[in-house]
This record gives sequence, structure tokens and C-alpha cells, in this order.
Amino acid sequence: MPAELACFEERCRARFPIAQILYNCPRCGGLLEAVYPAPEGHPSVWKQLWRERRLSNEPLDQSGVWRYRELLAFLDDYRRVVTLREGNTPLLDAPRAARYGGLDRITFKHQGFNPTGSFKDNGMTCGVAQAIRLGARRVACVSTGNTSASMAAYASAAGLDPVIFIPHGNISFGKLAQALEYGARTLQVEANFDQILALVRQLADRLGIYLLNSINPFRIEGQKTIMVEMMDQRDWSVPDWVVLPGGNLGNTSAFGKALREMKELGLIPRLPRLAVVQAEGAAPFFDLYHAADRSRLQAVPHPETLATAIKIGDPISWPKALHEVLTSRGVVEKVAEQEIADAKAVIGRCGIGCEPASAATLAGIRKLTAAGIIAADADVVAVLTGNVLKDPDYIHRYHTGPLSAPDGSPIQAAFANPPRLVAADANRIAALLGE
Ligand code: F0G
Repeated sequence: MPAELACFEERCRARFPIAQILYNCPRCGGLLEAVYPAPEGHPSVWKQLWRERRLSNEPLDQSGVWRYRELLAFLDDYRRVVTLREGNTPLLDAPRAARYGGLDRITFKHQGFNPTGSFKDNGMTCGVAQAIRLGARRVACVSTGNTSASMAAYASAAGLDPVIFIPHGNISFGKLAQALEYGARTLQVEANFDQILALVRQLADRLGIYLLNSINPFRIEGQKTIMVEMMDQRDWSVPDWVVLPGGNLGNTSAFGKALREMKELGLIPRLPRLAVVQAEGAAPFFDLYHAADRSRLQAVPHPETLATAIKIGDPISWPKALHEVLTSRGVVEKVAEQEIADAKAVIGRCGIGCEPASAATLAGIRKLTAAGIIAADADVVAVLTGNVLKDPDYIHRYHTGPLSAPDGSPIQAAFANPPRLVAADANRIAALLGE
């Protein structure tokens, strides 16, 4: 049986050929996922093979995504895959962040070490591989910034025509700069993320565009490898918790699918619990998780947060993400702008750094340990989704004073570290540094 697309809805589960261009189930409108027959062989043989590939100079083996290609076997020909050596991101210990979060120990899986500085690269190499297989010339996405930076890079590297749609004035400068530099046609639309996504989905067929938003099931396949690589790096020892920020909820869907599949294949004995953290002003998934009726997500019409990566009010992948959180006995938390800002500065002081959305993880952990949901001695991996240089403007404003929340209230920077202006005078400088 070859790879297929399957409707995610339990009551439908309709199947479609893997090379059909579909974003939703034509029968019921549900989300789609890629499904495969289980790879043959003993789990220990796969683990050994993946470890050996780390020594190989083959581009596919060097990729932290394609190294695990047996778990995302949707292609029948790998010769045209474009890899920028994505994945291969480190697990970093951060004692100071652990103390701040109320934990004995924390490990960050830092996706900001990717070629374009975010976890989107794990998924984009797969999405673009599928676009090439389908013979697409033009690819597009709507983005809060990182998806567009990643898609621009991979599409240009593959010789495709990238078109990106971004909310005008609402993405960080670093991300916009990347999209321009990587050669994407960039349209700044005067609407928010959710409104633009609805518009582009209408336009995709009309303009012959292949869509690479996280509704694209092949992106999700690539993002699964974040969890596979994490397990490989931990010698397959399962953490108690995996904590990640939630926006459009593609990553939550990918992590859950990866963990379930690894368990079904006997690669891991149990599932870690997923903790998804949202910003207070853009927390529809938090509301859904805590609602009595979880059958429909109530969108937030005007999402607001300085963590622009997760400024999303109507997350498209919520049915998948809800399934994954519930299956893993997970939780959903939300955090305030002040909490994100201080947690981010603490991650910076560890010599690690990340962009604002990523810091929602540590802010969420601090709340969840205080509430007794995560135990102090739990084994916790938090996924930092984006690089510290993605949003330098936010950092500068935090450390120099005028950072304020979207409602205008000032952020009190508990860890402010402003630069000092000093005259070009040896004595003054020596005095300042406490001679
Ligand atoms: N963290 C960062 C840095 C992101 O860029 C995103 C999403 C998320 C977390 C949330 O991930 O959507 O899978 O729940 N950024 C998208 C974009 C929406 O367009 O770049 P999610």
C-alpha cells in the first residue's frame, strides 16, 4: 500500500491519492494527513541506521529531517529534494531558566538553529519537495513571518516562484527582511493573518498556486522530525513533558502525530505530555481546551500580542491539535505579555536567546509548576521555535524602556540591561566599570 492522504475526522477517514492537490477533505471538509504502511524491521535497526547516517556526507543523511525519511515516506523519488541541512538543532541545558520556571532542570530544543532561524524549515523542505513532485511552479503562504522566510528560501533554492502574503505592519523586521532577501514576491495585505488566509485559499486555484501553509499535510510530516530528532538525541528516553507555543497549531499537530507514530512503531514505550502555551490576547485554543463544549473553536476576532509569530485568532489545525493534547493527557496554558517578556530575557541570560513567541514556553512552565501541574522534578523539554535575531526591535525596546503591551500598558522589564552612554575618557570608563 503506498502513502495516501486521509481525512483526519474519525467519522470520515476518506482516503485520497498522495499526489492529489487537496488541502481539505472533499467529502466532509476535514483536515487531511499523510498516512503510510508501517516500515518493516525492528525498531532497534531503524535507530541504528539513523545514528549511522549522522556520519554520512550525503545531503539527505545530513538533513535532520530526511535522515528519518522512513517515518515520512510520502515521496517515491528523493533525487529532487532540496535540503539546506535543516533540523540538527541542539538540546541545551539552562539551569537559570530552570530555576525561573520552578524546575530542577530544563532542556531547550532550539529550533532557532535552523537555516532560516525557525522550526518552519523542518516542514518546508517537505512541503517544497511535494510542490516539486506535483510540478508546481508557484508556491505561496500567508504568514506571521517565519513561514514566509522559510518558504522564500526553500522555494528559491528549488527554482520555484515564491509569493508571500503578510499582515501589513504586523511582522517583525528580521522576518520581512529574510523574505525580501530570499527573493519572494511579498504582498503586505491590510488585514490580519486569519483574514488573509481565507483570501489566499480562494485565490490558490484561480492563480495555480500551491499553498504551503501548515494546513499542507506535508509540512506537518517534516515538523514531526523535531520530535524524532529529540528522541534520538536523548537515546530514546521519553521526557515527562514537551512544552511548545501554539499559534496556528500546526506544530502541536505534528508533535502529537510523531509521538503517536513512534509509540505505535515501538520506538518509544510511552507518550510525553504536551503543554501548549498561547499569548493571553490570542488564546482561542486555551479557551477551547477549558470549555465545556469542545466541538467548536470560538475564534478571537482581533488577536493581540507582541509575540507576533503567534498572533492568530482562528487557528486552522485546532481539531488535530485538540486530539493530540487530549491523547497525550496534555494541557493548554496562556500567559501575559509581561510574563513572555521576562521569560524571554531569562532565556537570553542563559546565553541562549529566542524570539518572543518561543519564550511563552518558559512563561507557561512557570505558571504550570506554580499550579502543581508540572512537578519540580519533572523531565521537561521546551521547544524554542525561533532565533533571538528574528525580532531585535522587541529586545531593544525591552532593555531600553519603552516596551508596552498592545493595550498600551507598559512592560516592567525585570531583567532590563540597557546600554550606557559614556564619554571617550579612560577615567570615566574605568569609574563606570568599578575600577
Ligand atoms: N513560534 C514561532 C516562532 C512561530 O513562527 C510560530 C508560527 C509558532 C511558534 C506557532 O506555531 O502555528 O504551528 O502553532 N508561525 C507561523 C508563521 C504562523 O506564519 O510563521 P504553530
